[in-house]
Amino acid sequence: MEAILLVGGRGTRLRPLTISTPKPLLPTAGVAFLAHQLARAGALGVERIVFATSYRAEMFEAAFGSRAYGVELAYVSEREPLGTGGAIRNAATALRSGGDDPVLILNGDILSGHDVAAQVRLHEDAGAEVTLHLTEVPDPSRFGVVPTDEQGRVTAFLEKAARPVTNQINAGCYVFRRAAIDTIPEGEVVSVERETFPGLIASGALVMGHVESAYWLDVGTPEAFVQGSRDLVLGRLESPAMPGPAGERLVLERAVVAPGAVVRGGTTVGRGAVVEAGATVVGSVLLDDAFVAEGATVRDSVLSRGARVGPGATLDGVILGDGAIVGPGNELRDGLRVWPGIDLPATAIRFSTDA
Ligand code: GTP
Repeated sequence: MEAILLVGGRGTRLRPLTISTPKPLLPTAGVAFLAHQLARAGALGVERIVFATSYRAEMFEAAFGSRAYGVELAYVSEREPLGTGGAIRNAATALRSGGDDPVLILNGDILSGHDVAAQVRLHEDAGAEVTLHLTEVPDPSRFGVVPTDEQGRVTAFLEKAARPVTNQINAGCYVFRRAAIDTIPEGEVVSVERETFPGLIASGALVMGHVESAYWLDVGTPEAFVQGSRDLVLGRLESPAMPGPAGERLVLERAVVAPGAVVRGGTTVGRGAVVEAGATVVGSVLLDDAFVAEGATVRDSVLSRGARVGPGATLDGVILGDGAIVGPGNELRDGLRVWPGIDLPATAIRFSTDA
């Protein structure tokens, strides 16, 4: 089976992490986020994947080349971003599948433990045009929802509402009959969620829903990105791409965790990163060459490449961009994002949201 991987988004909600690196390539539990998806696809028997690229397109081929995790890889880039539907149509020019073959489409920012083989079986048994993975969420009011009938047929794509009719949402993994992709207009900006799926349903095409609530996470926000990394390190979602055993922490080559430092809760300590004695790092992502000085506390945060946290500083739910420096004793909390190169020395303003 072939797949298309949608990886062309700008990842604006994850800035400043996505300034230098597109979201699907952000290091997550020690490897590029996509490595987890590629390894799962390889294990599933996907033979070939076409990357639909746009933002920082060249970085994907540089990262994965022509083969990874037993899967042959090809790359198709959009000159201007075409949206999710337009990207699928554009990338389909590189597919080799026949008209009735199933083609898997994956959003490049989803961690999912669902049974893709079962989703493909449902698609083939039903003779569907498209079969979507739907997951159930406790509070669907933040999402558009996707109701199905008793046979599992999708009956509508509904926008966000205060009282949604179902808790099933689109989980960002689709099986398309190859020929169904050609119903998407060529060379135009198209949203698969807002245009293609509602259009197919309105035209009477058979669109099925594979409802399965296994582990599922959209890592599009900073909080979710940190959670995804943490869950992989802790083993809440198994990934064949993990570079070490699951546990409280994943410490990569050349990293130094001093005796007397506490590093736990699914934290990743990147290559060459340092955690000094008396520091505490919980549930966080330290990218390569990040530095946490003695007595500092870092919780549920991301330190990008070369970011530095001074002695005794506290970070809770914070994103530091590449090379950002937080001086001694500063307190940063609650979704604060420090852009690359912004310096917060001890003599500057003391940052504290609960002061
Ligand atoms: P935000 O800007 O933070 O909303 O992130 P995003 O740009 O990644 O958008 P979104 O999360 O809605 O995208 C879902 C998936 O589709 C991601 O894997 C994106 O990389 C991908 N995607 C979104 N828009 C495009 C596009 O225009 N072209 C391509 N090739 N992929 C896209």
